[in-house]
Amino acid sequence: MDILGRALERQSTHGDALLLCVGQPSTGAPSPVVAQAETAVREDILGYTAASGTPELKEAIAGYYRRRYGVEVDPRRILITTGSSGGFTSLFLAVCDAGDEVVLARPGYPAYRNVLQALGVKLVEIDVTDPEHGFQLRVEDLEACTPRPRAVIVTSPSNPSGTVMDPAELRRLAQWCDENGVVLISDEIYHGISYGAECRSAAEFTDRAVIVGSVSKYFSMTGWRVGWLIVPPELVEPLDRLHANFTVCPPALSQQAAVKAFDHAALEELDAHVQRYARNREILLTRLPAMGLGRIAPADGAFYCYVDVSSITADSFRFAHELLDATGVAVAPGVDFDPVQGQRWIRLSYACDTDDIEAAMDRLEAYIRA
Ligand SMILES: Cc1ncc(COP(=O)(O)O)c(C=O)c1O
Repeated sequence: MDILGRALERQSTHGDALLLCVGQPSTGAPSPVVAQAETAVREDILGYTAASGTPELKEAIAGYYRRRYGVEVDPRRILITTGSSGGFTSLFLAVCDAGDEVVLARPGYPAYRNVLQALGVKLVEIDVTDPEHGFQLRVEDLEACTPRPRAVIVTSPSNPSGTVMDPAELRRLAQWCDENGVVLISDEIYHGISYGAECRSAAEFTDRAVIVGSVSKYFSMTGWRVGWLIVPPELVEPLDRLHANFTVCPPALSQQAAVKAFDHAALEELDAHVQRYARNREILLTRLPAMGLGRIAPADGAFYCYVDVSSITADSFRFAHELLDATGVAVAPGVDFDPVQGQRWIRLSYACDTDDIEAAMDRLEAYIRA
């Protein structure tokens, strides 16, 4: 956020900022969503909804899981949240007590670490940057934990690394968690954005896992603040109560509009964005190694390249600031995602225009060679 703030300042003074630091699409919501929002604004009073969300949106999400993954999800097990982030605190309050242990990958999405820590939950962070891990957790990591952890969080495709967990490994993890009474929390908010790798939902392998979903990434609707949790039956009521107290309900307008995000017409528009991400990704995967930055996490999905910059800096935070000042290119330093090894890494988001990716690579190359 610090880099983003400075990049926006740079944009106002120099007009040349290229924002490869932000984790969001550069496009708006698909047109059926916008049309539905216009109608809802005119015709609906937009009052409170049920705390766990509207039945229509839950049905739409259940239908999407049926079509996309071939699984039947009871809509009563779906809770709509204010962005997926809006479900984190209540989820961890419902699942964990202070002092419990939760396993998560390092590097990983920082909000998980921060929210868990704020609730007094102990983090068991596993460094997944070595080749054996390939940037994802494995069953062996959980087996090594004594006592058994309360929960494990997996994110596939991952932020920041973009790596996708092998479906067989996800199945193995889901089975292991079921057998050992560990809550599997599967963050699948980048599903829909992958480049050949198969993104399977943990919901295909178990109905005991918690699935975290969102319209923010593939659906290109970050600011609409709609996400969802699919939970085992016994978590529905506690979460419903917590949400009613924390937020009353997710935004009514966004919920009404989001119902249309799963229609064929919307998905067609969204797939066109993914094709652009694929072109941008190709450019990065060609140009970065050519400038000596060849150690890149397998960029299987999401719109991120996680790049080892230890050949040119020992401090990615400083590097990100200096690069921005010298060139206008804004990247996210790895320390945001990995407090231990992150000084070796930067994350590039390629959800922007292809011209911006080309320009950013030109400037980065000139900066490194200077
Ligand atoms: C892995 C992951 N999970 C969850 C979120 C939260 O997204 P939102 O609250 O917009 O659904 C993000 C945002 O970048 C993310 O990268």
